[in-house]
Amino acid sequence: MNNNFYITTPIYYVNDKPHLGHVYTTVACDVLARFHRLDGRDVYFLTGTDEHGLKVKQAAEKAEMDPQSFTDKVSQNFRDLCPLMNYSNNDFIRTTEGRHIKACQHLWNLLVEKGAIYLDTYSGWYAVRDEAYYGEDELTTRADGVKVAPSGAEVTWMTEESYFFKLSDFQDRLLKFYEDNPRFVMPESRFNEVKSFVKSGLKDLSVSRTTFDWGVPVPGHPQHVMYVWIDALTNYITALGYPDEQNDLFKNFWPQAIHVVGKDILRFHAVYWPAFLMAADLPLPQQIFAHGWWTIEGQKMSKSLGNVIAPSDLIARYGVDAARYFMLREVPFGSDGDFSHLQAVNRINNDLANGLGNLCQRTLSFIYKNCEAKIPQPQVFTKEDEGLLNLARTATLEKVREELGQFRFHRAFEQIWSVVDLANGYIDSQAPWALKKTDLGRMNTVLYVLCESIRCLAILIQPIMPEKAKSMLAQLSLPENFSFDQLATPLQPGVVIPQPQGIFPRIETPEHHVG
Ligand code: MSP
Repeated sequence: MNNNFYITTPIYYVNDKPHLGHVYTTVACDVLARFHRLDGRDVYFLTGTDEHGLKVKQAAEKAEMDPQSFTDKVSQNFRDLCPLMNYSNNDFIRTTEGRHIKACQHLWNLLVEKGAIYLDTYSGWYAVRDEAYYGEDELTTRADGVKVAPSGAEVTWMTEESYFFKLSDFQDRLLKFYEDNPRFVMPESRFNEVKSFVKSGLKDLSVSRTTFDWGVPVPGHPQHVMYVWIDALTNYITALGYPDEQNDLFKNFWPQAIHVVGKDILRFHAVYWPAFLMAADLPLPQQIFAHGWWTIEGQKMSKSLGNVIAPSDLIARYGVDAARYFMLREVPFGSDGDFSHLQAVNRINNDLANGLGNLCQRTLSFIYKNCEAKIPQPQVFTKEDEGLLNLARTATLEKVREELGQFRFHRAFEQIWSVVDLANGYIDSQAPWALKKTDLGRMNTVLYVLCESIRCLAILIQPIMPEKAKSMLAQLSLPENFSFDQLATPLQPGVVIPQPQGIFPRIETPEHHVG
């Protein structure tokens, strides 16, 4: 396995405030970034904002601001999310930065040099909301007679002089590449959609606009700005120092790139982006994962329905770590999911308060009260003790690694929670409170095994719930931040632990919140 790991989120449009959908992707990437760092890899994790295009320009006009001041303001909302949601990103890129404009223009010139871009005129049905042209056959007519794109966005007929990218030249190369790289797009069902789209024939792609000016100017032809997607996709290499391909970041990380995106923007990442890179003779990313969409209590999230879930609301209700856990535990990452507060409360209370929280509280309070607050000295381990210790110290990490390698967050967390369940069952069956009267030596062994399980659980949950993990480690008088190879370093008996504090509070049911 290569030791470098580069993971990216989509860059978010700044015409909107951040919501659940945005934090979902970034939290997923953050969990992977943290996991791989703890697993001993060199990780580079990128997120940022997509600040050009007609949509942003129109949002700025609506706000009666010039586009740059508008994007400065709205981009800040996304940047503020990084500490709020506890993202461990290495960089935050904005497409209005000088380094990015330089990278886009360099790539553009290269594509022109290679004969992959030419000038022509373009007419077609354009949806401002999607920043995309649609074919006649993709449109439907609404009851009020207005033509709309499959996304529901209104389209208008536009004609403009435009540069084109020779996408049609890349059909065979793309199909060959997909065949040679059967895990390039995940999940597989989405990969099949991408392949059939490419097989059905690729038309050249209009890659410049003259109808507005909020974009990267085309070198030598500044009445054209670059199509927002050519601009946006380039962010992934700008951040690694492109066009300086000798830069260490670019050399080490670019060929290892994994792009995590929502299913709606897969085509741009799995078809257009690889074609641009092929045309420029640049290496392609390793993989693209397309996740599903959240609806809110059965409905699309939208401002007009007033059901948009703001990250600040999630944090206020559940705390950052529990919110991070819930999002990735509840729904398989490639599938669509429906969000409800009731589900969130049930999940958090069940897995965190009753499951993990209870395990810590029961064990540590017992030790605090009955063992002079010291980690007990174990005696001989039974088969059962060894079973739990082995699951916590070695077997679970292997399974989590395997599941996260397939982006199956929910299954990875299930593996970790099988340790929680086993340990909770163990405390019931071993009943240290009864052993206290009959066999102090065995009681100490049982409590030690439980502390070891808690220690390993704290290490394993670090990528998902970094703050809760820290609190758990502190309750065992351990410092924060353990890499996974420290799973094998057992607790020292005799160490004094602080008075236990509840780490995973129960959440009231939503009815109580609303009232
Ligand atoms: N700017 C482009 C991406 C360019 S990447 C080179 C863009 N931005 S976006 O802000 O509209 O969307 C960003 C991401 O948020 C997308 O991956 C999209 O799928 C995701 N989501 C937006 N709403 C969502 C849900 N309701 N649920 C899950 N994810 C959603 O597209």
